[in-house]
Amino acid sequence: MGKILVTGASGYIGGRLVPELRARGYKVRVMVRAPSPVFQELWPDVEIVAADALKLDQLQIALKDIDTAYYLIHSLLLGRKEFAVADIQAAINFRIAAQENHIKRIIYLGGLGETQTRLSSHLQSRIQVAEELKKGEVPVTTLRAAIIIGSGSASYEIIQHLVKRLPVILIPRWAMTKCQPIGIRDVIKYLVGVLETPATSGGSYDIGGKDILSYREMLKIRAALLNKKRFFIPFFSFLPLYSYVGGLITPIPAPITRALMEGLKNEVVCQNNAIRHYLPFDPLTYKEAIIRAMNREEQDRIHTRWSDAYPPAHELALKLNELKVGPQYTNTYSLLTQKDASSLFKCICTIGGNEGWFSNNWVWRLRGTIDKILLGVGAARGRKSRTTLRINDVIDYWRVEDLQKDARLLLRAEMKLPGKGWLEFKIQDEGSQRRLSINAYYQPHSFLGKVYWYAFLPFHQFLFNSLIKQIENRTYFGQAG
Ligand SMILES: NC(=O)c1ccc[n+]([C@@H]2O[C@H](COP(=O)([O-])OP(=O)(O)OC[C@H]3O[C@@H](n4cnc5c(N)ncnc54)[C@H](OP(=O)(O)O)[C@@H]3O)[C@@H](O)[C@H]2O)c1
Repeated sequence: MGKILVTGASGYIGGRLVPELRARGYKVRVMVRAPSPVFQELWPDVEIVAADALKLDQLQIALKDIDTAYYLIHSLLLGRKEFAVADIQAAINFRIAAQENHIKRIIYLGGLGETQTRLSSHLQSRIQVAEELKKGEVPVTTLRAAIIIGSGSASYEIIQHLVKRLPVILIPRWAMTKCQPIGIRDVIKYLVGVLETPATSGGSYDIGGKDILSYREMLKIRAALLNKKRFFIPFFSFLPLYSYVGGLITPIPAPITRALMEGLKNEVVCQNNAIRHYLPFDPLTYKEAIIRAMNREEQDRIHTRWSDAYPPAHELALKLNELKVGPQYTNTYSLLTQKDASSLFKCICTIGGNEGWFSNNWVWRLRGTIDKILLGVGAARGRKSRTTLRINDVIDYWRVEDLQKDARLLLRAEMKLPGKGWLEFKIQDEGSQRRLSINAYYQPHSFLGKVYWYAFLPFHQFLFNSLIKQIENRTYFGQAG
C-alpha cells in the first residue's frame, strides 16, 4: 500500500492512530497545522506536513502521492458559533484536494446520531461532514462512534470529575438517554481494521462498545469503580446551567462541555452491526474501558489528551518571539545557587498539576477558579504526565511554548487575560554558580490590560519570589541522575 495520511494527528484520536500505523509498518505522513519539533521526536520516521484544511492550496500539498487519508479534523474548540462552518469548509476543501490528487480512499471517524431526530449542532455537524466528503469521487469509509472512553478523553474526564467532586449529582431527564460508549482501544482497532479491509471502502459503519447505557448508569459505574457513594437526584433540565456547572467543575473547556452536553439529549446507539462482519473482535465493555483508562493514568502513560489539540490560529498561540515589539512589561525574579542546572530543571519540570506550584497553592488555584467562572480554561486541566513534559503540553492554565533541557522552560498563559502573558524559567551559568530566574512577560491589549498588570504586580512579586525560592529549596544536588 502507498502512503497513508493522518489528518488531526495532533488530536486525541489521530495521536493514537499514528503509532499503531507505524507499528504495522505503514508509511505515514501526518498533517498538522502547527508543526512542532515534538512530532518529529515522537514519530521520527514519519513525514510531517503543515497544512490548514481551510486552505485548499495547503491541502493539495498534504495530499500529494497519498494512497489513503484519515479524516480526523474537528474544530469544536472554536465555539458553537464557528465550529460547524469551519468543519464544513474543511470537508469541502478536503474532498476537492483528495479528488484532484486521485486518493484511493478517505476514512472518516464521525459521530453517531440519527438525522430523523433533532440532533445537537455538534452531532448534526459530524453527519454533514460525512455527507460533504461523500459528494466527491473518492470512496469514503465512515465510522460513527458515540462517546469514546480512554485515558485523557474529554468524556472520560468529565464523568470522572463529576463523580469525584459531587457527593450529590443532579440528574436531568436527558441523563436517562441511551448511549453506546466505546473504548479508545477499539476505536483504533476499527480505524486500522477498515484500512486493512478493502471491502469496507465506501461503507458507513456504526461502532460501539459492548454496553448500551444511560448517562446516569455510566456515572454510577464510575462512582462504584472509585469506591464513592453518590446520590443521584432527579432535577429539572436546563442545559445552559448544566453545561456552565460542568465547565466549572471539570477541566474541559466550556465549548466542548456545552457541545457534549447538548448531545446527551440524543440517543447515540449503533443502528447496525455490519462492521462486526468484517472485524469480528469482541469490543470492551464500558467498565473494562474505564479500568484500562484508570490503569493508564496510574502508570502515568496517557498518550494523548483532549487538551493536546487546540486551534493554533487562535490568538493565544502567538509566540513570545513573534511579538513585533515588546513585550511591554517584563519582571524578573532571580537568585544565585550552587545547585546544578539539570537538577534545577528537573524540579521546574514537575511544576503544576497534582504537585501544585510549590507554595501559596491556594492563590494559583483561586486564579484558576476565577478563570473558570469567566469561562476560561481554569487550573483543573492539570498535566498529562506527572514526570514528562513536552512542548505544547498543558500545565494548568499554561501551555509549554519552549523547552530547552537544563536551560529554559517557557509557558504561555491560556487563562483569560486583558493581554498576553508568558512565564519563563531560566537557568544560566554565572561563574561557578547558576542564576535561576523567573521572567514574567506581559503584553497588554488595552488600557484595562495595563491596569491589570499593575494591580497584580504586588501578588506576582510575592508569588514568583517565593516560587523561585521553593524551586531552589526543593532541588537536591544530583537530583537529575
Ligand atoms: N474524542 C471523542 O470522544 C470522539 C467521539 C466520537 C467521534 N469522534 C470523532 O473523531 C474525530 C477526531 O476527534 P478528536 O477527539 O481526535 O478531536 P480533537 O482531539 O479535537 O482533534 C481535532 C484535530 O483536528 C485538527 N484541526 C482542526 N481544525 C483544523 C484545520 N482547519 N486544519 C487542519 N487540522 C485541523 C486539530 O489540529 P490542531 O491541533 O491544529 O487544532 C486536531 O488535530 C472527530 O471527527 C470526532 O467527531 C471523537
